[in-house]
Amino acid sequence: MIGLQWGDEAKGKLVDLMTSQFDYVVRYQGGSNAGHTVVIGEQVYKLHHIPSGILNSGVMNVIAPGVVLNPATILEEIRGLDQRRIDVSANLRISDRAHVVFPWHIAEDRVTNAASVAGESIGTTLRGIGPCYRDKYARSHAIRMGDLYRPGFRERIETIVEAKHRALSSLGSTEALDANAIYSEFSGYAQRLQPLVTETTDLLLDALDAGKKVLFEGAQGALLDIDHGTFPFVTSSNSSGVGICAGSGVPPRWIQRVLGVAKAYTTRVGGGPFPTELHDDVGQRIRDLGKEYGTTTGRPRRCGWFDAVAVRYTSRLSGVSGLSIMMLDVLSQLPEVKICVAYQLDGERLERFPSHLEDLRRVTPIYETIPGWDTDVTQIRRMSQLPSGARRYLERISELVRRPIDVVSVGPDRAQTIFADGAS
Ligand code: GDP
Ligand code: IMO
Ligand code: MG
Repeated sequence: MIGLQWGDEAKGKLVDLMTSQFDYVVRYQGGSNAGHTVVIGEQVYKLHHIPSGILNSGVMNVIAPGVVLNPATILEEIRGLDQRRIDVSANLRISDRAHVVFPWHIAEDRVTNAASVAGESIGTTLRGIGPCYRDKYARSHAIRMGDLYRPGFRERIETIVEAKHRALSSLGSTEALDANAIYSEFSGYAQRLQPLVTETTDLLLDALDAGKKVLFEGAQGALLDIDHGTFPFVTSSNSSGVGICAGSGVPPRWIQRVLGVAKAYTTRVGGGPFPTELHDDVGQRIRDLGKEYGTTTGRPRRCGWFDAVAVRYTSRLSGVSGLSIMMLDVLSQLPEVKICVAYQLDGERLERFPSHLEDLRRVTPIYETIPGWDTDVTQIRRMSQLPSGARRYLERISELVRRPIDVVSVGPDRAQTIFADGAS
C-alpha cells in the first residue's frame, strides 16, 4: 500500500482495514516522521513506527531493515498501546538491521532544517530522519539495532559523540552531547526492546515460502521519494512503490498487487512546490473540514485540488493496480470541485510530471471543474448510492490516472468505507 501524494493520504486507516486479510504487515522505510491514524469507534490511535496492523490480533507486525528507528518513540508507542490493553509482545518484531536514530541526528536535523535549500526550508519533521539515513549511507558513524547488543557499543558511542560534537559546532550548534548519558539511556532502551529485536528478512521470506500473505505499509507518499519525488523537498527514503523490496528484503517476484492511496484533494506539509495549492477560502475550508493538521508535528497542512498529473506519475512509478480515494466526504460541501488535468509550462500543455524543481515551480495547472454534490456521503456504503456529482468526480479521476478505483473512504472510521464491486 503506497501513498501517491505528499503523505497523510490516510494509509493508516486503510492498512488497518485490510489487515484482516493478511498474516503479516510490514513497515519498510521512514521512521517516526510518519504519523498514521487509525480510528476504531471512539478510539483514535496514532502510530509512528508500529505498523497499522497492530490493532488486529493474530497478525504479525514487522519493522524491516529500511526503517530508521527511534527507540524512545517506539517504547512510548508500545506503552500507549499497553495502556489500552493492546499487548505487542507476541505480534511485533523489529529488524536488527534497522538503523537507530540518536540525539545527534535530531540536533543535526534542527540546524540543517533552519537553513534554506533552493530558497526555502525543507520543513522536516525534525525527527532526525535525514541525518540518520545520511549516516547509514556514509557508514562510518552508523549504529544499527543489532549493534546495541554487541560488545564495543560504549566505545562506538564515545567515538561518534566526539566526531558529532565537532560537526555540530562547525554548524553553529551548541548542543551538548554526553556520551555516558547517551550510552546508559540507549542501553536501557535496548534491554526493553530486546525481546522484539530479531532477524526479519528470513522471517518474511520463510512466511512467503509457507504461503502466508504479507501487506507492506508505505510511509510518507511517492512525491516525497528521495529519488523520484520533488527533490530536494522530499524525505530521505524511497517512499514510492520502488522502495518496498529494498527496505523489506523481499524481492519483486512476491509483489502481487499495489493499492495506491490518494486523497480526493491534495495536501502537503513542509516546504516545496505544490502546483494545485489553494491560498484562498476554499483551501481553508478543506483544511477545516478535513482537520488537516499534521499527525506528527501538528502543523497546518497546505491544501489544494486533486492533481491527476502527479497521481498518474506516482501510480505508474509505484506499479499501482488500483486506487483508494480517501476523504471524499470533505469535498461534499463545496459548490464545485476541480481536478488538475494537465499543466501549462512556457505556453505548452504538459501531461507529464516534470523532473526538475524549477519546472514544477513554474507550471500552471489546467483545471476541469465539476459541480459539487452538496450531500452528506458519510453514511453511504455503496458506489451506486453516491450522488451523481461525486461519481462523476471519481470516474474522471480514474480515467485521468488510468487506474480503477477499488476503494472510496467517506470518513475516518473503519465502517465509513466503500468497496467497488468485486474489490475487497
Ligand atoms: P496517513 O499518514 O496516510 O496514515 O494519514 P494521517 O493519519 O496522517 O491523516 C489522515 C487523517 O484523515 C486521519 O486523521 C484519519 O483519521 C482521517 N481520515 C481517514 N480517512 C478519512 C476519510 O475518508 N474522511 C475523513 N474526513 N477523514 C479521514
Ligand atoms: P506519513 O507517513 C506528510 C515531509 C515533511 C517534510 C519532508 C521531509 O504520515 O504520510 P523528514 O522529517 O522526513 O526529513 O521531512 O517530508 N514528511 C511528511 N509529510 N506525511 C508524512 O508521513 C511525512 N513524513 C515526512 O513534512 O516536508
Ligand atoms: Mg500521516
